Amino acid sequence: MTTENELKPHVTLDTIVSLCKRRGIIFPGSEIYEGLQGTYDYGPIGAELKKNVKNLWWKSMIYDRDDVEGIDCAILMNPKVWKASGHVDTFSDPLADSMGPSRKRYRADHVEPIECTAFEVIDVTDEGSEKRIEGAKIWAPSKKKAKEFYQTWWEKHLGLAGRRVKLEEVAGSTRVGRFSPDDGGELGEPRAFNLMLSTHCGPVADSAAKVYLRPETAQGMFVNYSNVQTSMRRKLPFGIAQMGRSFRNEITPKNFIFRTREFEQMEMEFFCKPGHLCKEGELTDDQWHEHWVEYRTNFYVKYGIRRDHLRFHYQTKEELAHYSKACCDIEFLFPLGWQELEGIANRTDYDLRMHMEHSGKDLKYFDQELNTHYVPYVIEPAAGVDRAVLAFLTDAYLEEQVKEDKRVVLKLHPELAPIKAAVFPLLKNRPELVEMARNLCREMKQSFYTVYDDTAAIGKLYRRQDEIGTPFCVTVDVDSLDDQAVTVRDRDSMQQVRIGIDKVRDYIAGELRGKS
Ligand code: GAP
Repeated sequence: MTTENELKPHVTLDTIVSLCKRRGIIFPGSEIYEGLQGTYDYGPIGAELKKNVKNLWWKSMIYDRDDVEGIDCAILMNPKVWKASGHVDTFSDPLADSMGPSRKRYRADHVEPIECTAFEVIDVTDEGSEKRIEGAKIWAPSKKKAKEFYQTWWEKHLGLAGRRVKLEEVAGSTRVGRFSPDDGGELGEPRAFNLMLSTHCGPVADSAAKVYLRPETAQGMFVNYSNVQTSMRRKLPFGIAQMGRSFRNEITPKNFIFRTREFEQMEMEFFCKPGHLCKEGELTDDQWHEHWVEYRTNFYVKYGIRRDHLRFHYQTKEELAHYSKACCDIEFLFPLGWQELEGIANRTDYDLRMHMEHSGKDLKYFDQELNTHYVPYVIEPAAGVDRAVLAFLTDAYLEEQVKEDKRVVLKLHPELAPIKAAVFPLLKNRPELVEMARNLCREMKQSFYTVYDDTAAIGKLYRRQDEIGTPFCVTVDVDSLDDQAVTVRDRDSMQQVRIGIDKVRDYIAGELRGKS
């Protein structure tokens, strides 16, 4: 049996990135202007896939249950919200700059301390005399590495290109510390760098007009807790959910859509009774936490994530955010290794309390049964849309040998598949076949998203649809003119069946339902 730790990603990130570019799924943002770091654009196929992920989340969180309401809040909120939530004061990363010539900036906690020795640069003149270069101290684990740093960064920076130099070890300098892995410069003192992006509201761009682009969707639910509870006449426990854009000035956006500066979240705040007030038979906040971990795991598995590609990391006391009592990270085996896909936190009554304090509004709940007021506890499943898209793409990706050929196929769950069916005429120079195929496509569109294509030979058209995960391809051939039937090909089995043209729509609709 394979244990989760022995599992290796079955596909590289480069493979996924290149499929996404080739097939109109995801493009680098602003590409014709050399891009903008940390941004990506979803193409026609990707936009559809992302929309399906969001719709299924909405269905699972709101339509399939009767204890969650959906809302849609403004991205710009009163800056006091972010003061109350703690984002203004604590949503920051510790940044440290290299004192070497690259001046590169690092997340201090992402640079492992290592043992290095300082090497000084000695300029050897033509006459053979030696001159120390002031301020040129290269920290490296070996002389070889120091030479590498010198050649890539220091030589030019010091204006010594073409000169004879020596690197001399500084006696007794070896120590463990944080040094730039790029240029061997020592890292300066870390400084807190706030991750919120800001802009200005109104015509004057002064500090009074400063507003933030929300770094999470969650606060929209907290500030609307009372509005929703009273307008929808809700009793505890109940949840408020929303999905939408969030922005973070990530220092090192990387790994494709895994960590970007603009992304989408799907979050829900589930307001419940604090455990100590629960009577026999009522779920406590801890039990609701477990419920949501399981519910969200089942969501991913239902739509195609392999269960053994998921694991749970329960944060330790040291890892927990100050407002959390418990937090379970659902991790997925991404092409870059095990990483967080979704976090499910027990945020206690922290957020509502902070908003009560900062807004002066009473957000306590009146429990009629207990005849008392209290601040509800909150369980928060917080998912990233883009990370979910990457996870679904990863687990759906398959390379298969078909006779002498290799085929790439995205075995996406039918409800996630961007296009449900594609219709082709076998011969595009036969107007009767083209007309029949176009008519059939038009009819099928009434039930599910169908496309028409005649821009390549049939084999190529099949491969193209396989690569974007289209569950069914329909071919209109010469026989169709006589028998009024077409060939329907299944993406996964590649089996073909002959179906009467008047039954194709119902047949595919039934198959899609059956596979869901
Ligand atoms: N309200 C809690 C919250 O925002 P988080 O763990 O910071 O928690 C929740 O974010 C989810 O949002 C993450 O699990 C991840 O899927 C997604 N996410 C966070 N930062 C992201 C980024 N820079 N790029 C893409 N997705 C991100």
